[in-house]
Formats: sequence, structure tokens, C-alpha cells
Amino acid sequence: MAVPLGLLLALLGCTVALDPALEEAWEGWKSLHAKEYPGEAEAIRREVWEKNLRRIQQHNWEEARGQHGFRLAMNHYGDLTDEEFNQLLNGFSPAWQEEPVRVFQASAALKTPAEVDWRAKGYVTPVKNQGHCGSCWAFSATGALEGLVFNQTGKLVVLSEQNLIDCTRKLGNNGCHGGYMTRAFQYVHDNGGLNSEHIYPYTATDTSTCQYNPQDRAANCSAIWLVAQGSEAALEQAVAAVGPVSVAVDASSFHFHFYTSGIFSSMFCSQQVNHGMLAVGYGTSQELGRNVSYWILKNSWSEVWGEQGYIRLLKGSDNQCG
Ligand SMILES: *[C@@H]1O[C@H](CO)[C@@H](O)[C@H](O)[C@H]1NC(C)=O
Ligand SMILES: *[C@@H]1O[C@H](CO)[C@@H](O)[C@H](O)[C@H]1NC(C)=O
Ligand SMILES: *[C@@H]1O[C@H](CO)[C@@H](O)[C@H](O)[C@H]1NC(C)=O
Repeated sequence: MAVPLGLLLALLGCTVALDPALEEAWEGWKSLHAKEYPGEAEAIRREVWEKNLRRIQQHNWEEARGQHGFRLAMNHYGDLTDEEFNQLLNGFSPAWQEEPVRVFQASAALKTPAEVDWRAKGYVTPVKNQGHCGSCWAFSATGALEGLVFNQTGKLVVLSEQNLIDCTRKLGNNGCHGGYMTRAFQYVHDNGGLNSEHIYPYTATDTSTCQYNPQDRAANCSAIWLVAQGSEAALEQAVAAVGPVSVAVDASSFHFHFYTSGIFSSMFCSQQVNHGMLAVGYGTSQELGRNVSYWILKNSWSEVWGEQGYIRLLKGSDNQCG
């Protein structure tokens, strides 16, 4: 049976059931994050936002009753479905099989402090924002190099992700559609340098050609070490001995997208990693009379997300989130 087009549109329109009580909150959220939508897109985005908001409220209601160790909050990603979020932002794929680099193994002889936080030692630059570009791998790589440059020179220099995005395509990285931290380090090694963010600013696009300027060499890379995969003991020793370390996690769950505070762990977190981050330390906190250990991970989703841009992720249980 042929359905007149106008009728079909009207029928489809009916499936978007928006909550009028959320009108003011929606307008406030749009203006806070400078969101504008053309025509019919607005109702669709609002429906996604309302669904996310209800899930966040449900989680926090459960958290208040002791069912979770962390809280969620609406943020600038509130108009994205889980699938859209993962397509747009999680730019790390784990099937890396190239020549092996040196592997950092846990050593029984190496004693680590109970707590490490490289932020307090001046090793970590302010939290950045990758925007709508799956370039997490580049932010993770600059973060590790920024820490090591600080150790070597005593100067904290913000390094260029765009330099890595534009210039590592020949090594197989894919700009805003994903890449590997190891290939970023390999580029800095082979290229003999990396520019600063100041000289080579971030555009959140991947259509430019490489514009590395050898006059501004803000970092070098002499060797690449891999931390033994899946070993939290080896990672703890590397973080304690070396400084901030690039890591990958499974950041694909709704809970991860809207995390705002607490020690994160989720039954929806798998060992399939898809997001590059930076381990800047670890610690232990008293939660309901128990000692709970956590990693401190720097993200690149702006300071609006998480604990001023960071997440505390459960440590030493089952390699949470890979
Ligand atoms: C750099 O690291 C070494 C050894 O890990 C340490 O002894 C030194 O104090 C560090 N330098 C700075 C500036 O933090
Ligand atoms: C990088 O290496 C070059 C050549 O060895 C050196 O001149 C420069 O100071 C190094 N830069 C940094 C930030 O370590
Ligand atoms: C928690 O850790 C502290 C410091 O290491 C220790 O003194 C305390 O006994 C621990 N508490 C529990 C419940 O394990």
C-alpha cells in the first residue's frame, strides 16, 4: 500500500516523544555547549539527550543507595548515542602487529611507592579536548612525551597532536579515524623531533599535509618501550619509575562516556581496548571502610568530563577496562 509522503513523515514524527518538563534544561544545555541543530535534527538530538539524561539519573539514584562506586553527569556529549560516540571518539584499535619493541616487565626487586601522582611533580600539561575527532592516540602519545621532556629538560612544553595526525599517515595511522601511540612514537623517533602545540596548533581535522618545522624541535624520542600487556604490576612499576605512560582502555560503555566522579569499574567494561589515555599515577582511597586502589588516567575530552578531565579507574582487581 502506498503511503502519502506527508502522512509518513507525520507518523514518524509521532515516535519522537519529548518530555515538555525538560524544555528548560534542554535549552540550558544547548546554550552551555553552544549547540545548534538544523530543522528536524533538533527533535532527534533532544530525544537522544533525554534518554542519556534518564540513564544518568537512574545510575546516580542507584549510586546514592551504594550500588556503584562512581557517579555520572550530563556533559557535552549528551546528544550522541553510544554508537555515535564510539565511532566519533574512540580512535584506538588493538590489532597492532609490527616489529616488537622492548618490553618492560615487572621486576620483583623494584619497590614502588604506595601512591604516585606526576601532576604534583609538574610532569603533566593541562587537560586538552580532542573535539569530534578520533585522535585520542595522539593525545596519549604527546602526554607521555611531555612528561619525559619535563624530566630531561625541567621544562613543561605542550606538544602537538596535529603534528602527529598530519605526519603519521605513512606509518598507517588514520588521523581522526584512529591510530596507535606506538606509531606516533616511531614517527618522532624516525623524524628526529616533534613540534610544540604553540607552533603546530590543533585543528581536530585530518585533511592537512605534514607541516613539521625542524626549527622548532620541542621533543625527541630515542627508544620505545612496551609495558607487558595486561600486567598491572608492570604498569605500576613503569608509572612509578618513568613517569606518565600511554595506555589504552575500553571506553565504549555509556558509563565511561558520562563518568563524573568516584572510582570507576563496570561490568560493561571489557578487555577490548579502543581508547588511548595517559596513566599519570595511582593511589588508594578509603571507600566504605575498604581500601580501594585506582589508576589516575588523563583523558582528552576536556575538563568538563570526569574529575577535571581525569578518571580514577579501579586498579589491581581484574585489569578493569583492559
Ligand atoms: C628525572 O628522572 C630521574 C630518574 O627517573 C630522576 O632522578 C630525576 O629527578 C628526574 N628529573 C626531574 C626534573 O624530575
Ligand atoms: C633533541 O635532540 C637534539 C639533537 O640531539 C637536541 O639539540 C635537542 O636539544 C633535543 N631536544 C629536546 C627537547 O630534548
Ligand atoms: C588501608 O590501608 C592503610 C594504609 O596502608 C592501612 O593502614 C589499613 O589497615 C588498610 N585498611 C584496610 C581495611 O585494609
